[in-house]
Amino acid sequence: MASDGYRVGVLGATGLVGTTILELLADRDFPVAELRPLASERSAGKQIEWRGESVTVQAISEEAIQGLDLVLSSAGGSVSAEWTPKIVAAGATVVDNTSYWRMHDDVPLVVSEVNPEALQGHNGIIANPNCSTMQMVVALKPLYDAAGIERLVISTYQAVSGTGKAAIDELRSQARAIVGGYDVPEPQIYPHQIAFNVLAQAGSFADGDDHTDEERKLINETRKILGDSSIRVSATCIRVPVVTGHSEAVNVETRESLDPEQARELLAAAPGVTVVDDPAAGRYPMAIEAADSDDVYVGRIRRDPGNERALDMWIVSDNLRKGAATNAVQVAELLIERGLVGTRV
Ligand SMILES: NC(=O)c1ccc[n+]([C@@H]2O[C@H](COP(=O)([O-])OP(=O)(O)OC[C@H]3O[C@@H](n4cnc5c(N)ncnc54)[C@H](OP(=O)(O)O)[C@@H]3O)[C@@H](O)[C@H]2O)c1
Repeated sequence: MASDGYRVGVLGATGLVGTTILELLADRDFPVAELRPLASERSAGKQIEWRGESVTVQAISEEAIQGLDLVLSSAGGSVSAEWTPKIVAAGATVVDNTSYWRMHDDVPLVVSEVNPEALQGHNGIIANPNCSTMQMVVALKPLYDAAGIERLVISTYQAVSGTGKAAIDELRSQARAIVGGYDVPEPQIYPHQIAFNVLAQAGSFADGDDHTDEERKLINETRKILGDSSIRVSATCIRVPVVTGHSEAVNVETRESLDPEQARELLAAAPGVTVVDDPAAGRYPMAIEAADSDDVYVGRIRRDPGNERALDMWIVSDNLRKGAATNAVQVAELLIERGLVGTRV
């Protein structure tokens, strides 16, 4: 490992997001002096190959979090709630992928292309938005800057990898059973069979709420990232039997008039966005094409026939890449570029 660079912890290193973070740190030549993969007791001692070397996974503990500069964390909300303050107290800056810190007033919620200025003056914790919100705001930002946004009506079609490794296993085992003509195993992760089905529920219902937590995240995080609490948001989050890549149908009502051609031009020039929009030729964004890519793909850009100030569009991205790991690593890169990381080796 290079001697110059940062001491980087990856908490949740054995999970879907953590594994993708490890790949990206290597692919993007992130300046790592020491890599420390952290997970639960279950994975302690496991070997991970990283940049041609074998690195040992450590269980999270007071001892394991000492002497780090940066921690990219994706081990679930309760782990973040308990460990993030301890990691910050031990001297590291944390980029957290879980939902726990996102709506805290003193924690910036940052998308690298959208609101990097929010990093300034952070208190040691930077939150990475929810995957559905992330890809949507990357596509909305150029439209927001050009014409303002009055209202959003969103329907998501979310892949099972958004729920973690165990959800992919559940989809695969149910699909194998159905195709092979065997008894379908009982669902363990989702409330109903996900294979060959569509669930009108991504996330869970808190007591008394008729929206899922995923829908609430989309509403609240969008407003926080765009810095505009006046945007009205209606969200329906759906789980579909896709392994990777969230798709979203978004109706955007702008404050000023914006026609589809202007929107296409703004999006084509926007960082992190690729426009795929030739429906007559069968060209529009698809989850299977977005998987393993860092971009947000936008297509089916058209006028809402019922509203002269609204556009409809289809937004697709890899939920594990831009929806989680890519943005976390981009945020870490921005922290370095701007001199906002705690201690240097
Ligand atoms: N998947 C997505 O598209 C996505 C997108 C944005 C945000 N997120 C968020 O990122 C987090 C992780 O998601 P994931 O999809 O990577 O889940 P995952 O595949 O289930 O991985 C979970 C990771 O957390 C670790 N972990 C679990 N309990 C732990 C504990 N008590 N102490 C230390 N480590 C523990 C696991 O380690 P072991 O292997 O030792 O169990 C594993 O490394 C979640 O909060 C999720 O909401 C996910």
